[in-house]
Amino acid sequence: MRLALLGCGTVGSEVVRLLHEQAADLTARIGAPLEIAGIAVRRLGRDRGDLPVDPTLFTTDALGLIKRDDVDVVVEVVGGIEPARGWLVEALRAGKSVVTANKALLAEDGAALHDAAAEGGGDLYYEASVAGAIPLLRPLRESLHGDRINRVTGIVNGTTNFILSAMDATGAGFAEALEEATELGYAEADPTADVEGFDAAAKAAILASLAFHTRVGAADVHREGITEVTAADVASAKAMGCTIKLLCIAARGADAAGRETVSVRVHPAMIPLGHPLASVGDAFNAVFVEAEAAGPLMFYGRGAGGAPTASAVLGDVVAVSRNRLAGVRSPSESAYADLPVRPMGEALTRYHISLDVADRPGVLAAVAGVFARHDVSIATVRQGPAGGGAAGRGEDADLVIVTHVAPDAALAATVGELRGLDIVRSVASVLRVEGGL
Ligand code: NDP
Ligand code: HSE
Repeated sequence: MRLALLGCGTVGSEVVRLLHEQAADLTARIGAPLEIAGIAVRRLGRDRGDLPVDPTLFTTDALGLIKRDDVDVVVEVVGGIEPARGWLVEALRAGKSVVTANKALLAEDGAALHDAAAEGGGDLYYEASVAGAIPLLRPLRESLHGDRINRVTGIVNGTTNFILSAMDATGAGFAEALEEATELGYAEADPTADVEGFDAAAKAAILASLAFHTRVGAADVHREGITEVTAADVASAKAMGCTIKLLCIAARGADAAGRETVSVRVHPAMIPLGHPLASVGDAFNAVFVEAEAAGPLMFYGRGAGGAPTASAVLGDVVAVSRNRLAGVRSPSESAYADLPVRPMGEALTRYHISLDVADRPGVLAAVAGVFARHDVSIATVRQGPAGGGAAGRGEDADLVIVTHVAPDAALAATVGELRGLDIVRSVASVLRVEGGL
């Protein structure tokens, strides 16, 4: 089996190292030796340390490498939309098998890749694109194909999980925790893709596509990042026996006419400490899958890093190589269900709302009236003196309200109206609540 490796950075260099260290085992598992035909990079002169590979294999001509007749499998660990899309479509149409870790491309235009794979007859594998080392996509695309998945809830971004875990552990604010994540190498110099939820949204699209046999793209995913999460939010979550996580949630539902739909979203949310995802700390990832017959399943592990991600890439390389030797291919994309994706306003969720209100007769009734007007049912109400001072008539009060499940649009409209009331001094925080409470 001859491999074209596109990219030799954090992940690619570990792929090279593992290919070298495990050559004998990989040969035995596949039934043929794996050889690197070439490695495409951007800078030929870059210092690559003591990478165990022939330096003459490096090239800047990725397309030329892909087109070579002696290349069977193309491994793409460059990232980004172009030129990766052009390369992979070319490779797949030519009948080569492709292994990629590129979640951004899969979420942006997975259809182009799947269509090209169907045309060329090769395999398209992408285990490393979601949750790094965790074997997750293969279980969704193979092991669970006899079952019906109802919901997938995941922590799929290690940087934001590190930041939120640090905020929870130390009481630090977002900026301080981000600084620590940057110093320790978890956050990149430009952390936008992570902290604004773009990375998690791409992964949510991939998970939803596999779980619900429906093409879901990044544009279908409602996305909110963690930049607005405050130390006060974290403290408020703690007071409720909860913690805050950036969750990706993909769920089945039904529209007003009873037709089946899916909703896919990424946003910070409070989850109870007893929820399996609450104890996922540091930069770890975990995905909680709820299936009809299997019940709850939990997948946990490292979601990033050179070696963990290379492990998933190599697992795919072994699988597609075996298929090629046997003259077979894995089942192609399963998108037969073609379920409509619901807008966020129709997603069913719960809110935790923290208000600073005037503490005088009738205020609670007025606030409750707003919820009632929007058909939002209140689950719990907790009131205390504002800022922890002495309670009493004429002073402000802190009011914390947790709702029952309601459409997100109704909850958002409730908060909008509360903001307009003169008895509401401020809406201190609004957080969604997931996972029971
Ligand atoms: P890096 O930035 O570390 O490496 C990118 C590699 O691509 C480099 O070797 C670079 O060359 C090469 N490259 C960039 N542009 C071109 C080009 N135009 N032509 C040829 N080669 C090019 O990225 P990572 O290894 O971190 O990530 C790779 C992929 O894996 C991405 O899709 C990422 O999302 C995904 N991924 C990464 C994880 C991680 O922990 N890092 C985890 C899960 C997925 P040069 O070396 O010369 O600069
Ligand atoms: N003391 C107020 C009331 C509650 O009786 O409505 C303020 O939230």
